[in-house]
Amino acid sequence: MFKVTLILQAIALCFFFHALRTRGVQLRPTIQKFKENYSDLHDFVHGSTKQNPKSLNSSSIAAMTFGQDPSTWDKPFFALHLTSYGGPNDNYYGLHTTMGVYNHKLTPGQWSGAAIWVYHDGDGVESSFNSIHVGWHIHPERYGDSHPHFYTVWTRDGHVTTGCINMDCADFVRANGSVIAPGDAIQVSDVPDGHIPNITLRVPKDQTSGDWWVYYGLNSVPTGVGYFPRSSFTYLADKAKQMAFGGAVVSIRADPTPPMGSGFLPNDGLGRAASFTDLRIIDRDGSSKPILVDLLKFVTDEKCHSIAPIHNGTFLYGGPGNCVR
Ligand SMILES: *[C@@H]1O[C@H](CO)[C@@H](O)[C@H](O)[C@H]1NC(C)=O
Ligand SMILES: *[C@@H]1O[C@H](CO)[C@@H](O)[C@H](O)[C@H]1NC(C)=O
Ligand SMILES: *[C@@H]1O[C@H](CO)[C@@H](O)[C@H](O)[C@H]1NC(C)=O
Ligand SMILES: *[C@@H]1O[C@H](CO)[C@@H](O)[C@H](O)[C@H]1NC(C)=O
Ligand SMILES: *[C@@H]1O[C@H](CO)[C@@H](O)[C@H](O)[C@H]1NC(C)=O
Repeated sequence: MFKVTLILQAIALCFFFHALRTRGVQLRPTIQKFKENYSDLHDFVHGSTKQNPKSLNSSSIAAMTFGQDPSTWDKPFFALHLTSYGGPNDNYYGLHTTMGVYNHKLTPGQWSGAAIWVYHDGDGVESSFNSIHVGWHIHPERYGDSHPHFYTVWTRDGHVTTGCINMDCADFVRANGSVIAPGDAIQVSDVPDGHIPNITLRVPKDQTSGDWWVYYGLNSVPTGVGYFPRSSFTYLADKAKQMAFGGAVVSIRADPTPPMGSGFLPNDGLGRAASFTDLRIIDRDGSSKPILVDLLKFVTDEKCHSIAPIHNGTFLYGGPGNCVR
């Protein structure tokens, strides 16, 4: 039995990297095959990724992270959880969570943030990949400062011809009276000393219009910021097939990676490591259910950034960075 499991896992690993390399974030083969036994897959993905980080080629993962010309950026380092994929119940209509926001002094060429991804891999080819990506990041090259900014990204074709970040194209419709616009700095100075600012993000698919809404709240109940119209999408117009959430950092080749999250590893514990709390999956009718089970995880290099299992809708993630590829 042990041997059979190992062989199955080896096949999964090949699929996993091959899928990432050639088709963006098409994780279907891995997840379909091993849905029965997530606990094995966790260890496996974690262990082998650690030994073999170079096998990840991000020219297509860039679609998942920035929506920018990937040739100017090196491969991102991820520490993510992913929902299950491919089962009869694996249709998704949104995600809700609260996450801490941190300040780091980064230089142009470095990028650090945390986000949620809601996506549909279409018919399997990269140019049918539909995705919405919402979170915070520090990105000096883009903003000319080293503060955390709220940001959004979308595409309906794996960033071949559509999609962009923030308000760079007219596809994100701002809500009247929204408290923040995509791209704005997060006003962390409003938070009392000694407290980590938290943002609550909610990305539900509106039951009536089919639009994908974005809600944001800084230490408060989230309110509508705007929406991605249903008509901007192909596959996501109907539903998402998978969701992911966690941290991502990037550094131009040869520079070490910046800190992820607070800069502490999950083992450093609550209060030091960054967290996602109150994780909830939103249903088709707009109701939500807490995520009470652990999910698949993906970590690029456990030495620099990591992610802990989900307990009661909460997990810790992050790390000091300082990785060089
Ligand atoms: C699932 O994992 C358990 C515990 O490691 C193991 O005993 C079992 O054989 C695994 N099942 C499959 C189908 O791999
Ligand atoms: C990544 O893969 C693409 C397509 O297979 C290839 O053209 C590119 O050279 C690769 N980049 C790196 C850094 O290996
Ligand atoms: C904002 O208000 C205008 C005028 O009342 C309305 O037409 C528009 O639909 C509103 N926009 C949103 C996103 O609710
Ligand atoms: C943000 O969340 C953390 C962890 O739940 C908590 O310790 C902290 O006090 C919160 N910050 C604020 C400003 O409420
Ligand atoms: C689980 O999380 C909920 C909501 O955050 C909280 O009220 C409850 O006390 C937690 N339960 C445990 C066992 O930690």
